[in-house]
Amino acid sequence: MAKIKAKLIIQGKEIELPIVQGSMGYPAIDVSSLHSNTIKTFDPGFSSTAECSSSITFVDGGKGELLHRGHPIEQLAEKCEYLDIAYLLFNGELPNSREKTGYIKSIKEHSLPHDQLNNIFRGFRRDAHPMAVMVGVVGSMSAFYFDENMKVNNQNHRKLSAQRLIAKVPTIAAWSYAYSQGRPFVYPKDELSYSENFLNMMFSTPNTKYLQNPVISKAFEKILILHADHEQNASTSTVRLVGSSGANPFACVAAGIASLWGPAHGGANEATLKMLGEIRNEGRINEYIKRAKDKTDSFRLMGFGHRIYKNKDPRAIIMKATCHEVLDELGLRNDPIFKLALKLEKIALEDEYFVKKKLYPNVDFYSGIVMKALGIPNSMFTAVFALARTAGWVAHWNEMILNENSKIGRPRQIYTGKLRRDVPNL
Ligand SMILES: CC(C)(COP(=O)(O)OP(=O)(O)OC[C@H]1O[C@@H](n2cnc3c(N)ncnc32)[C@H](O)[C@@H]1OP(=O)(O)O)[C@@H](O)C(=O)NCCC(=O)NCCS
Repeated sequence: MAKIKAKLIIQGKEIELPIVQGSMGYPAIDVSSLHSNTIKTFDPGFSSTAECSSSITFVDGGKGELLHRGHPIEQLAEKCEYLDIAYLLFNGELPNSREKTGYIKSIKEHSLPHDQLNNIFRGFRRDAHPMAVMVGVVGSMSAFYFDENMKVNNQNHRKLSAQRLIAKVPTIAAWSYAYSQGRPFVYPKDELSYSENFLNMMFSTPNTKYLQNPVISKAFEKILILHADHEQNASTSTVRLVGSSGANPFACVAAGIASLWGPAHGGANEATLKMLGEIRNEGRINEYIKRAKDKTDSFRLMGFGHRIYKNKDPRAIIMKATCHEVLDELGLRNDPIFKLALKLEKIALEDEYFVKKKLYPNVDFYSGIVMKALGIPNSMFTAVFALARTAGWVAHWNEMILNENSKIGRPRQIYTGKLRRDVPNL
C-alpha cells in the first residue's frame, strides 16, 4: 500500500493521513488514527467508507465490471459451476479436477441436516415467510456446531463450517418452502448436482418425481453464480461485523440472511414481479413510465438502476440471455406477464429519461422473470438469493478472521441527545 499522505486541517490543527491504494480501484484516506486525535469521521450508510481491505471481489460500477479473485463474471458464468465459484471465493483459486471432486464430495456429505432440525422447523407457524424460517433455522445450527466442534481460530473448523453452510442452506431453503405448503420434506440426493438437488427438494414430493430439464437447471445455476458475491453490501458487511466479535459462523450467516431479507437489499426481484402484476397489461406501460419520471411521485421502475453500476450491470447482460433461453424452452414468450416484462424493458431502454440517467435493467429485473418462469414462488426469491450469497458470506467471514489487522467492529456516533442533567427528586 502506497505511503502518500493526505492533509487534514481541522480547528487550526494539521493532521497527516496516509493514503491507501488497493491493487485496483480508487484510493482511500486512512482515518484510523483520527480517534487518537479525538476526531471522528461522519459517514451514515458508509457510502464513502471502506471498512476493510478484501481480495475476494472487485466491482467497477463505471466500467460495468465484476471480478471474483480477478476472474471476470462473464467468463466464470460461461465456464464454471456454482460450486467452482464457491471454492474460488473461499480459497482464492479455482479448483483443479482433484480438488473439485473432493469439494463436491464434501458438500454432498454435508447436505443432510441433523435430524433434530426437523423439530425446529415444526416450531414455526405454517404461514411464516421462508426467510423468517431460514433466519431461525440457520441460526439454530450454531447450537449443533460449537465449542470443540467449531473454534473460529481453527482454519480446518472454518473450512468445514463454510462447507456445512454451503451444503445445508439449499436444503433449509427448500424445506422452509415445503413447510409453508404443508408438504413433507424431500431429502437431498447424491446423484443430483447442486442446482438439480435444490429444484428436486423444492418441486418433488414423495409420490411425484420432479423431471429435471437441463435448460432449467442451467438457468438456476446461473442465478446462483451471478448472486454468489458482490463485495461489501449490507448483508456481507453484517456477516463480517457479527463475525468480528468471534461469533459462531452459523449465527453470523443467520444475521446476513436477516439483512438480505430487507426490501432495500434482496427484495428487488420480488418487487419487480409485484410491479408487473400491478401494471397488468401493455396498454398501461406508458402510464407507469410517466409515473417513474414524475418527481412528485415516489414510484420507481423496479429492476432498473443500480447504486454502483452506472454503466450496464454485467450480471444483467448474462441473466437477460438466460431469461430468453428459459422463455423459449418453456414456450412462455406469449405468456402475458413475460410479454409485458419484455415490452417494458424495450420501452424503458429507448426512453430518453432512462437513457440519460443510465438506468438500465439490473440483474433483479431478469432474475425475477427467470425464477417466475422456473415456477419458483415470489416468497422464495430472496431465499434463493440467500442460498447463492452464502458462498460470498463464508468467504468474507473467513477472510476477516484471517486478516491479522481485523478488529471488532465498533462504529462511533455523533451524539445529539440531552446534555448532562440531574435526576430531579421525585
Ligand atoms: C437501485 C437504486 C436504489 C440506485 O439508486 P441511486 O444510485 O442512489 O440513484 P438515485 O436514487 O440517486 O437515482 C439517480 C436518478 O435516477 C432516478 N432513478 C433511479 N432509479 C430509478 C428508477 N428505477 N425509476 C425511475 N427513476 C429512477 C432518480 O429519481 C434520480 O433522478 P434525479 O437525479 O433526477 O433525482 C435505484 O436505481 C432504484 O431505486 N431502483 C429501483 C429498485 C431496484 O431495482 N433495486 C435493485 C438494485 S440491484
